[in-house]
Amino acid sequence: MSVTRAARWGRVAADPMAIHLRWMIRRDMPDIMGIELASFEYSWTEDDFLRCLRQRNCIGMVAERNETILGFMVYELHPTRLNLLNFAVHPEQRRTGIGRRLVRKLVYKMCSHRRQKVTLAVREGNTAAQLFFRAARFSAAKVLRGYYEDSGEDAYQMEYLPVAHDWEEFGGGGAPTNRIAMYEAR
Ligand SMILES: CC(C)(COP(=O)(O)OP(=O)(O)OC[C@H]1O[C@@H](n2cnc3c(N)ncnc32)[C@H](O)[C@@H]1OP(=O)(O)O)[C@@H](O)C(=O)NCCC(=O)NCCS
Repeated sequence: MSVTRAARWGRVAADPMAIHLRWMIRRDMPDIMGIELASFEYSWTEDDFLRCLRQRNCIGMVAERNETILGFMVYELHPTRLNLLNFAVHPEQRRTGIGRRLVRKLVYKMCSHRRQKVTLAVREGNTAAQLFFRAARFSAAKVLRGYYEDSGEDAYQMEYLPVAHDWEEFGGGGAPTNRIAMYEAR
């Protein structure tokens, strides 16, 4: 059977190397905690995750391959932006594009939820993450002095602002308009 026909009939086996993104669930916690502890000096506890994910505007997603969790992200929905709270890839799986996949999903969410930007805070000393986010077209917007209670370290607030290409790819109807501002301008 041709690939096209087989695909149409759903008989092509799923690519075992494919990365799958899905919502985080309670059962993922041991794997997520493993990645968290291996990734951060000042890591979240399981309670931090659960407390955060109980908030109505807080969303967790994991990247997995063959049902093995390779990375995750936790973000909040605000009226005009998505704010990334936690983000990590398993140390042995880094530099294979998993972080890029997660960020792309975030940009998709930003467009489909009609938000205007993605924001995050990154530790001043976390150069690898700064380079990663810069490669993903984030830019440093401001310095948050003494942002972290644990170490007193400063943070950079980094932001991703959508480009036309994002709206074409994900947004459907183009960039969001601020209806209140339009009304006030009359
Ligand atoms: C930051 C992090 C999530 C990146 O994830 P990743 O899956 O390794 O990233 P990707 O493979 O998708 O990298 C995409 C691009 O980002 C850049 N990049 C990623 N890691 C980098 C590093 N350590 N140094 C320089 N550039 C880097 C590169 O341009 C890379 O493309 P390339 O590999 O083709 O050169 C990962 O390093 C991590 O988990 N770090 C610890 C946790 C952390 O700091 N989280 C962020 C908190 S704000």
